[in-house]
Amino acid sequence: MKEKTKSRKQDHLDICMEDGIEYSRKAGFECVEFLHNALPELNFDEIKLEAEFFGKRIFPLMITAMTGGAAESGKINSELAKVAEKHHFALGLGSQRPMLEGGNEKSYLVRKEAPSIPIIGNIGAAQLEGNMEKLETLVSKVEADGLAIHLNVLQEMVQPEGDRNFRGVLKNIDKVCRVVDVPVMVKETGAGINRDVALKLREAGVKWIDVAGGGGTSWSKVEYERGGVPKGFEEWGIPTAVSIMMCKDVLPLVGSGGIRSGLDAAKAIAMGASVAGASRPFLLAYEDKKLDSTCAEWVLQMRICALLTGSKDVAALKKAPFSVCGWLKDWLE
Ligand SMILES: Cc1cc2nc3c(=O)[nH]c(=O)nc-3n(C[C@H](O)[C@H](O)[C@H](O)COP(=O)(O)O)c2cc1C
Repeated sequence: MKEKTKSRKQDHLDICMEDGIEYSRKAGFECVEFLHNALPELNFDEIKLEAEFFGKRIFPLMITAMTGGAAESGKINSELAKVAEKHHFALGLGSQRPMLEGGNEKSYLVRKEAPSIPIIGNIGAAQLEGNMEKLETLVSKVEADGLAIHLNVLQEMVQPEGDRNFRGVLKNIDKVCRVVDVPVMVKETGAGINRDVALKLREAGVKWIDVAGGGGTSWSKVEYERGGVPKGFEEWGIPTAVSIMMCKDVLPLVGSGGIRSGLDAAKAIAMGASVAGASRPFLLAYEDKKLDSTCAEWVLQMRICALLTGSKDVAALKKAPFSVCGWLKDWLE
């Protein structure tokens, strides 16, 4: 693998384990309040939160794309896979660009640890050109149920070695949807997807969108830690709650970016996502050796939100009443 890619992937892991790389403004869920239901008439034990995701039934949470190819990636992916399997979450692999460059393939091979859940492969939109015929192999080597293409224009623009040419990306996404055998998801990486982009992606044949909006890990801040310039884009992006509201009737959504608890995840679903997702919280939990207990806590929080809103399943949670206040109300208006 190219040394540059390898050390960048390790830098990202190291920096993301430090403080100070999240947006100052949150994803918006602090401005969303469920309407409490004091008479839910439900037995907590019967609450069943399940969603259909890439042809499989899961608990509606996804550990979204993080790693592969770096020194620690194999261990991290293996632990994430085990915990995702145990709690029936979906799992996103980190960018498979290192595999295209002949890097550490083993770090992506976690199907053994997670035989039943959806595993989603990952490649950057900038890597599609010239690699179309290799994508099917990328997917089949990791036994993925789907392929995520990530959009990260903000990150590239402030990255010391970033790409600058974003022409032809939509055409390439359209082509991928026709050449790979699995459904394609397009994800942002923390700056969000607007409605116009979502409509274009649907037209191209994309089946899922992960909005990965602003309010969590800030990829401009991460790149600034690596010497990126120019400064000033620390808070750039569409907050996740806004991105979900904008795109919810276009395609099924993963609501991610700044989801920091099961309560945020439940709100993301009530606002229109089909599945909620997060990355950095699970990386920190891995580092603190609290991965399993963190997942269990999020599941419990989501199930309690369901009970307290009188929702016995995901379909009911999607209709749970909530109110919006503060700055989010201004954004949505
Ligand atoms: C350490 C780390 C590495 C990441 N690498 C990738 C990647 O390779 N491909 C990708 O699509 N997104 C990647 N992301 C972005 C996440 O999938 C996610 O969209 C973003 O971090 C926002 O979610 P969060 O606020 O929950 O962290 C990475 C995130 C982290 C924390």
